[in-house]
Amino acid sequence: MKLTFKLSVAAVALGAAFAGSAMADTKAAMMAMGRDATPAEVKAWDIDVRPDFKGLPKGSGSVAKGEELWESKCASCHGGFGESNEVFTPLIGGTTKDDIKTGRVKGLEEGKSIVPQKTTLMKVATVSTLFDYINRAMPWNAPKSLSTDEVYSVLAYLLSLADVVPADHVLSDQNMADAQKRMPNRNGMTYFEPLWKVNGKGDVKNVACMKDCPTDAKITSALPDYAKDAQGNTAEQNRTIGPVRGLDTSKPAPAK
Ligand code: HEC
Repeated sequence: MKLTFKLSVAAVALGAAFAGSAMADTKAAMMAMGRDATPAEVKAWDIDVRPDFKGLPKGSGSVAKGEELWESKCASCHGGFGESNEVFTPLIGGTTKDDIKTGRVKGLEEGKSIVPQKTTLMKVATVSTLFDYINRAMPWNAPKSLSTDEVYSVLAYLLSLADVVPADHVLSDQNMADAQKRMPNRNGMTYFEPLWKVNGKGDVKNVACMKDCPTDAKITSALPDYAKDAQGNTAEQNRTIGPVRGLDTSKPAPAK
């Protein structure tokens, strides 16, 4: 008995030592991979713009310049006035002068929307988010191709369409805070505590459909052919479980 006990203790100790050194080996191997990012690389990634405007690059752009850019680089997907519902839900519309005064979009109240779709300007509370998003992600088919001043320009144009800034405005890092004071839904953010807790209850009220459920989804928007594979093949980026399959964007769309 005594002997067996001693042996098994030794085996455990040996096992632990083995596992320990294997882990150390793996760690060493991981450390040997790649290299530290250079300061220039970190700087290139570090482009976020915060609601307090930390990270906002210096620059400016006029509504007039923005309109030109919009026509050539954005309108094909979002419509001439940011109102298109073809490729993505509309960016502009559904906000009123009153909303600009109160900072709360009335049309967001249940069932009271004055446009059929909730638009970006109805929802977004911070103008910094728009700058950040356009700067990093748009145009969809050529992200990060706009210069800083061009981002200011198209943003100025969008804000002018929503009456946040006048048509002769020049938007800049110096006056962006004034635009923020006129964002129609600037007071629309709420803190919903349960969502911040692991065991909190969600805010979804819909009941899952269990019988006579619709089977065919109606496709209401699609990317234009020239931009379909701008983000790679979506079929390869979707999970293989669940109901949703990504469209194979490596191929041209099937003829209707
Ligand atoms: C090839 C089509 C295409 C072009 C061109 C394009 N966009 Fe977009 N845009 C999209 C799509 C698709 C989305 C939604 C992306 C997503 O949700 O991942 C989007 C989203 C946006 C949003 C965010 C809306 C929201 O509520 O989240 C903004 C703002 C925007 N685009 C601005 C622009 C600007 C400015 C330009 C021109 C510089 C531009 N877009 C050009 C397709 C396009």
